[in-house]
Amino acid sequence: MTQPLSGAPEGYMPGLGNHVATEAVAGALPQGRNSPQKTPFGLYAEQLTGTAFTAPRHANRRSWLYRLRPSANHGAFTPYDGAKLFRTGPFTEQPPTPNRLRWDPLPLPDAPTDWVDGLVTYVGNGDAAATAGIGVHLYAANASMTDRVFYNADGELLIVPQDGALDLFTEMGRIHAAPGEIVVIPRGVRFRVDLPDGSARGYVCENYGEPFRLPDLGPIGANGLANPRDFLTPVAWFEDVDRPVQMIQKFLGGLWSTQLDHSPLDVVAWHGNHAPYKYDLANFNTINTVSFDHPDPSIFTVLTSPSDTPGVANCDFVIFPPRWMVAEDTFRPPWFHRNVMSEFMGLIHGAYDAKEGGGFAPGGASLHNCMSGHGPDQAAYDKAIKADLKPHKIDNTLAFMFESRWVFRPTAWAVETPAMQLDYDDVWTGFEKGKVE
Ligand SMILES: [Fe+2]
Repeated sequence: MTQPLSGAPEGYMPGLGNHVATEAVAGALPQGRNSPQKTPFGLYAEQLTGTAFTAPRHANRRSWLYRLRPSANHGAFTPYDGAKLFRTGPFTEQPPTPNRLRWDPLPLPDAPTDWVDGLVTYVGNGDAAATAGIGVHLYAANASMTDRVFYNADGELLIVPQDGALDLFTEMGRIHAAPGEIVVIPRGVRFRVDLPDGSARGYVCENYGEPFRLPDLGPIGANGLANPRDFLTPVAWFEDVDRPVQMIQKFLGGLWSTQLDHSPLDVVAWHGNHAPYKYDLANFNTINTVSFDHPDPSIFTVLTSPSDTPGVANCDFVIFPPRWMVAEDTFRPPWFHRNVMSEFMGLIHGAYDAKEGGGFAPGGASLHNCMSGHGPDQAAYDKAIKADLKPHKIDNTLAFMFESRWVFRPTAWAVETPAMQLDYDDVWTGFEKGKVE
């Protein structure tokens, strides 16, 4: 059974972290029991956990899936030879570098390449085996995944489309995501990606640590930043397909493949709070100063993956969306800074307000590691100190940051590609000396 891909919101359930129940066929979901002796239609009950059984209730995530066949129904995996630039922590190909790095956009491939084979790892930190850190990948693809699915045993995937929409067919439903939206696929959930626009490019944060959640709001109060109801979880959908399907997985960095005689996207009904979701970044309730000074960028946090230390994130996903700038007597762009946290930035569209001199293009990326000085370029600085500080809207722009407590290490590809800009340091060389009298 397949259904046409329905657009939002009818194919989705609103909310993040809610316990929801959904069935693609009426009566498929058992009532009152998670695993009754006999399930409706002879479906197989299976629990999928995203946290340890004993995780505290507020952090506990699990779902019950009711499917045509058990997910255990597959043969042995053998090494997979594709996705040759897809890497996993620990990242040891290159020594860690304090240098500021920046890259031009990743070109689309010449040969037919699907979403999995089109993944290219730029940087990463931590260790998937230690469930700490993240991998940062870009993808450039020009072919849909046909008769193959992927799952990642190493962490959840936060996908940031930059150019071209994605149709994600997951075990737990279908998600259409265009640039400006993000998608999170939990660890282990099987999916395939179609490219409705023929090609697609974007960014992926592979999170080995605690699953992403909404940040605390503190004095902001009960509302603001990303509001829970704007997160959309797909309703149950399944396909009853009996033909060869390749299933690829990543397991502690190794890529493995096995052949099924059916599609594993066969979950007829499910319930729980552990599921894929998407979010339209245009719904972010941006909060900023209405007096003076530029607040810390943590005010722009959409999702956070906490570490074991309170307030020190394994990864924060932060955006720089369109917003009014009204600060008086203030240098309005991001100031010069050196941070204990390390920053990987990308640009979905438009121009980032700290870089007026070019070089940070949509689809490009930059890395500013722990204690590496960075900030506005000369053009942005000169413009900001001369600006007439009337209310001004920064519009038609959407940059983002994966910020982490762990230093990012580049892959060999990232420092050898011609897309890496060898002259990035020059952005900060032309500044006139201050004049002390
Ligand atoms: Fe920064």
